Amino acid sequence: MGILDNKVALVTGAGSGIGLAIAQSYAKEGAKVIVSDINEEHGNQAVKKIRAEGGEASFVKADTSNAEQVEALVKSTVEIYGRLDIACNNAGIGGEQELTGNYSLDSWRKVLSVNLDGVFYGCKYELEQMEKNGGGVIVNIASVHGTVAAPLSSAYTSAKHAVVGLSKNIGAEYGQKNIRCNAVGPAYIETPLLESASGDMKDILIAKHPMGRLGKSEEVAELVLFLSSDKSSFMTGGYYLVDGGYTAI
Ligand SMILES: NC(=O)c1ccc[n+]([C@@H]2O[C@H](COP(=O)([O-])OP(=O)(O)OC[C@H]3O[C@@H](n4cnc5c(N)ncnc54)[C@H](O)[C@@H]3O)[C@@H](O)[C@H]2O)c1
Repeated sequence: MGILDNKVALVTGAGSGIGLAIAQSYAKEGAKVIVSDINEEHGNQAVKKIRAEGGEASFVKADTSNAEQVEALVKSTVEIYGRLDIACNNAGIGGEQELTGNYSLDSWRKVLSVNLDGVFYGCKYELEQMEKNGGGVIVNIASVHGTVAAPLSSAYTSAKHAVVGLSKNIGAEYGQKNIRCNAVGPAYIETPLLESASGDMKDILIAKHPMGRLGKSEEVAELVLFLSSDKSSFMTGGYYLVDGGYTAI
């Protein structure tokens, strides 16, 4: 018996890092999982991994910054598994590192299109389907930069703050429709997103966490699983940190 038995879950950006860990934990708890990613190879590998662990999963390719593809993704989820109970809008990118005054227009648009538009498109079509189901749960992956600055990454900080606001709005609007929505704020987590960071940069990042280390994807997945399950049945419109103390100082 798992806490997500008979549930159908969708995870975007599930081919790697935090999204993969979330998809694995959903499947371990009994959910049928749609693994979605822009990267087909990584998405298919994630499905293989989940099936090897005894779970049920299928891959659907989608670029979350494209509204039509996200609409089609939700439609495919229902075609494959019959309904949609849980959605985790996780796909995200880091973007250019520049002072705000030097930030390129292209990079600003790119980061906002994936990290904010993509989450909005996800929520929009997931909510439509969840209303048809009679309920559901959405978890949006924001960041500690949904509440504190990431110097040299103003597009990232702006998008993540907006994801927190969007999640609050959905919580406020859908409370009586049996649909809950929360945002999660991880600090720095060991994933491929951080692979480009140099050793010195990693040390600087580690020093910002009172726990003296970076987080693990599985530690984020634990919180997301809780927020996706009935164990968090009175929680909506919230923003929950999993940050090793990053924002405490
Ligand atoms: N790693 C961290 O330190 C950290 C900290 C806080 C928040 N986050 C957030 O967690 C989420 C996942 O990050 P991660 O560290 O696991 O990154 P990652 O790069 O390991 O994985 C991101 C996945 O998203 C996919 N993706 C990228 N653009 C996409 C698009 N347009 N459509 C569909 N899929 C797309 C990638 O192919 C990849 O598989 C992001 O939203 C990120 O901002 C990460």
